[in-house]
Amino acid sequence: MRTLPTPAFMLEPALDPHPNRDAGTSRDALGLGAAAATGLDTRHGTILTLEDISVSFDGFKALNSLNLYIGVGELRCIIGPNGAGKTTLMDVITGKTRPTAGRAWFGETLDLTRLSEVQIAQAGIGRKFQKPTVFEALTVFENLELAQKTHKSVWASLRARLSGEQRDQIEHTLQMIRLTASVNRPAGLLSHGQKQFLEIGMLLMQDPQLLLLDEPVAGMTDAETEFTAELFKGLAGQRSLMVVEHDMGFVGSIADQVTVLHQGSVLAEGTLEEVQADERVIEVYLGR
Ligand SMILES: Nc1ncnc2c1ncn2[C@@H]1O[C@H](COP(=O)(O)OP(=O)(O)OP(=O)(O)O)[C@@H](O)[C@H]1O
Ligand SMILES: [Mg+2]
Repeated sequence: MRTLPTPAFMLEPALDPHPNRDAGTSRDALGLGAAAATGLDTRHGTILTLEDISVSFDGFKALNSLNLYIGVGELRCIIGPNGAGKTTLMDVITGKTRPTAGRAWFGETLDLTRLSEVQIAQAGIGRKFQKPTVFEALTVFENLELAQKTHKSVWASLRARLSGEQRDQIEHTLQMIRLTASVNRPAGLLSHGQKQFLEIGMLLMQDPQLLLLDEPVAGMTDAETEFTAELFKGLAGQRSLMVVEHDMGFVGSIADQVTVLHQGSVLAEGTLEEVQADERVIEVYLGR
């Protein structure tokens, strides 16, 4: 049984050993040294490297020698039948599940198998689970504000007033997720799709380099799905995205490259057209 996911922004922040330092440079709190403090090292153009990753649950291999490389700024879609290991893959990247074997690197230098969930979130990997986890009693603004505060170090969250920069970030995010008009509404009154957008906004408040999104358009209307595609395409380039989705129309509208997972391994990779023409993919997934 899977435990209930804890949104990254709710995880207890790591204590900053240097409280006088600018609270915004949360990577310093990880003690990752000068390279990390100046940003993620992606000099070879790869933001995520997974090699020979295996995950066993009581002998069952949910991931089996999986190899995956995501480029900086790429929008990668992961597809595959139920139970293929897509969510487990995200669990490994975010430190929720430890691989039983293999290597996982964020940029060139951060070994994901050695970092905690909190450290991974702070290093710049944000994750959105399928079910929206917004605070229903709080307004849209308060939800974004909370995500922003919990991202910063303990010391920053003790500062009661929002700086102008922080307000600007919230306003910019509100526009991106098209919730400016609902800024003072309790999140509980939003539609399912709007809650999803709010949660994406909350993720963005943490300024992640790599965003993992598990079935983001499930349960959305056509219009909301279309907007999500636009939003993701706008985010790609500046950030890298890994999107798990079963909705092929949506995948076709956003993906550069598609990876097909089957029985815990990569079965095929290429453009959606290429993988859709692959006999093995048709047999295990698309041809159903
Ligand atoms: N904590 C766990 N303990 C035991 N088995 C697990 C655990 N998590 C996942 N599994 C098993 O690992 C396999 C891969 O599951 P996973 O949830 O990663 O698949 P998925 O590709 O995300 O599927 P779906 O499309 O249905 O979301 C499944 O057979 C699942 O039952
Ligand atoms: Mg899943």
